[in-house]
Amino acid sequence: MTVVDHPLIQHKLTLIREASTSTSQFRQLMREVGPILLYEATRDLPLTQRRIRTPVATVQAPVLAGKKLCLVPVLRAGLGLVDGMLAFAPNARVGHIGLYRDPQTLEAVEYYFKMPAALERRPVIVVDPMLATGHSAAAALTRVKQAGARNVKLICLLAAPEGVAHVRNEHRDVDIYLASIDEKLNGHAYIVPGLGDAGDRFFGTKKAGNRTRKPGKGTAARNRLRR
Ligand code: URA
Repeated sequence: MTVVDHPLIQHKLTLIREASTSTSQFRQLMREVGPILLYEATRDLPLTQRRIRTPVATVQAPVLAGKKLCLVPVLRAGLGLVDGMLAFAPNARVGHIGLYRDPQTLEAVEYYFKMPAALERRPVIVVDPMLATGHSAAAALTRVKQAGARNVKLICLLAAPEGVAHVRNEHRDVDIYLASIDEKLNGHAYIVPGLGDAGDRFFGTKKAGNRTRKPGKGTAARNRLRR
C-alpha cells in the first residue's frame, strides 16, 4: 500500500475535505488530485525502446510497452477522479462498474459493467475514492478479475482502516494507492473525518429533499454503495 504524502496532494486533500468548499471547487480539486495518485500507481508501467530521430541525433528512447492502461471508476464517485487522470494518461481505456447493495441480502449487486477488450493484457486500475467498509471496492476488484484482469491496482483518495483491512484480506495481490487513511468509520459508514459523500459533493446532489427517510439499520451503508 502506498500513502501518497506529496505536499501538493495533502494540501489539496485538506481543501477537498472542507465543508465550505463549493461544488465547482470540489470538482476542480478532484481533477487535480487524480493525476497525482495515478502518477504513483503507474510507476511500474513497462517500457520498451524505440529508435527516434531528434533534430540533432538518432537515439533509442523509451516508450510505453504493451496494451493500454485501463481505468475502472466505480460509479458514481469514481468518475470524479477519472477526468483528471485522463488528462494525464489520454490513451487510457475506461471501463465502468456500477454496484448497489441488495437490501435483503446486503450483497453488492452489479447493475452496470462494461470493459474494454483484452483486459487480461492491460494494467487495470480500479478507482473508488472512498474506501469505507471496502465492500464495493472488493466486489469491483473481484469482478474485474472475473472478467480476465490479471494485473490490478486500486486507487482511492481516502480510506478507513476497516476498508483497507477488508480489501487487503480479500485481494492480497492488489496494491492500494491513497492519500490518507483516516481515523475510523462512523455508525453511518462515513469515513471520519473524511469529506462527506464524495458523489454528492462532486455532482451537487446533496439536497434536503434527498433525505426524506430516517436512516434505519443498514440504510446509510446501502446508500453509500449507491453513490
Ligand atoms: N462514501 C462516501 O462518499 N463517503 C464516505 O465517507 C464513505 C463512503
